[in-house]
Amino acid sequence: MPMTTAPTARWNDRRLLLTAVLGSVAVFAFDVQLPLGIAVTALYGLVVLLGLFVRWPKYPLWASIAVTLLTVAGALISPEGGDTRLGFENRALTLVGVWVTAWLVAGYARVGRALDRSVKDLADTNFALDQAAIVAVTDVKGRINYVNDKFVEISKYSRGELLGRDHRLINSGYHSKEFIRNLWQTIGGGRIWRGEIRNRAKDGTYYWVDTTIVPFLDERGQPYQYMAIRYDITERKLSEERLREQAALARLGEMAAVVAHEVKNPLAGIRGALQVIGGRLPAASRDRAIVGDIVARLDSLNEIVHDLLVFARPREPKLAPLPLATLLEDTAALLKKDPEHAGVSVTIEGDRPVIQADAEQLQTVFLNLFLNAAQASGTSSDVRVAIAKEDGVCRVAITDRGPGIPADMRDRIFEPFFTTKHRGTGLGLPTARRVIERHHGTIEFACPPGGGTTVTVTLPVNAK
Ligand SMILES: Nc1ncnc2c1ncn2[C@@H]1O[C@H](COP(=O)(O)OP(=O)(O)OP(=O)(O)O)[C@@H](O)[C@H]1O
Ligand SMILES: [Mg+2]
Repeated sequence: MPMTTAPTARWNDRRLLLTAVLGSVAVFAFDVQLPLGIAVTALYGLVVLLGLFVRWPKYPLWASIAVTLLTVAGALISPEGGDTRLGFENRALTLVGVWVTAWLVAGYARVGRALDRSVKDLADTNFALDQAAIVAVTDVKGRINYVNDKFVEISKYSRGELLGRDHRLINSGYHSKEFIRNLWQTIGGGRIWRGEIRNRAKDGTYYWVDTTIVPFLDERGQPYQYMAIRYDITERKLSEERLREQAALARLGEMAAVVAHEVKNPLAGIRGALQVIGGRLPAASRDRAIVGDIVARLDSLNEIVHDLLVFARPREPKLAPLPLATLLEDTAALLKKDPEHAGVSVTIEGDRPVIQADAEQLQTVFLNLFLNAAQASGTSSDVRVAIAKEDGVCRVAITDRGPGIPADMRDRIFEPFFTTKHRGTGLGLPTARRVIERHHGTIEFACPPGGGTTVTVTLPVNAK
């Protein structure tokens, strides 16, 4: 993008000025030497016309003054015509022509310079905008006609994949129909629309952009194209979400304390009393089986309350050297103890690093991930676990061959109480994320188009 004046422009000016000087000298020589007639002075007009190309604004004035002086000198020196009336009249007329030409040339040059400047200003403004923002231009139907480098970078599509395509290509499906309708109504009516939009990149990741869409209007006031200027606000959105989550967690923590006090203790009391009553009933009595059933239900209720407590008031991890592969093997054995998942085969392969972590907390996390994988893929299925250690980070990838997670659910699975299962609490993944983050690790899901799900947990080998 041109931000400076090209050096060739100055070089051109010098050549044009030289041509003007040589041209004037030539006309003067013809005028005084050759008997070509007094009309030859009209050729000075060409010298003045050069002003259309010279960028020096005073050129037409100085050229006209020089030409006037030369014409007068010519009239005085010239052997024929200098002393005739016709000669003087012709030269006077020529000079009028030269000055009118100079005036017109000066006017044109001024307009040309103003135009040049505004074209350059526009190019510079475009350059500045491209440096600062994500810019796209679409036609009225939303077909993309222009994207800048930042747009290409954030959307992860190539320019070729974007141009000519419908803007809906980057739609994330997050916003409601009314939201989108309001956007189109606003810009379709020629008004500027501002808002925050979540878009989808080519690799399926989402990004948030603060967006201003400006309609460009034709002479009838109808939009003929739209320019969208955006800023990446993904980081801000994420931290806002975290803040909201933390606030919700704080409230949940308070609630959990109440639950612990008001529910857990009476539950333990009821359970104890029932066991006493059950113990007194004859072994073969039907009532004893019923009491046993009630106790089992109380146990699962207690488990839910326990899950809630773990989630809402997690304790600080107690870090100690932990052989990760062994922990995963033990967890797989634990999973298979459950008759429902006895048929699941868990293959663990890869490195066998020892990391600094809280064994009990990580076992809860991996048991839930194994359970999710087993529950997603049915009774007798394959779960593959790959462990890799590189650059001080340990990566555990758990892959199942289940149906995967539907796209519209993917960003909800970490929400507390989000579950698609009949008897799930929806606390497994949010708890897992809290634990992993307290270990300064990450947890991510990927669902390849071929089906199945891979959860990847990364953990630092040494505690931070
Ligand atoms: N491997 C997977 N394949 C398909 N869907 C999954 C997988 N893992 C998690 N999910 C989806 O994510 C949801 C939330 O999982 P999460 O572990 O938080 O809760 P849950 O398993 O439903 O209940 P809980 O673990 O508390 O008993 C699940 O209900 C399921 O829809
Ligand atoms: Mg679960």
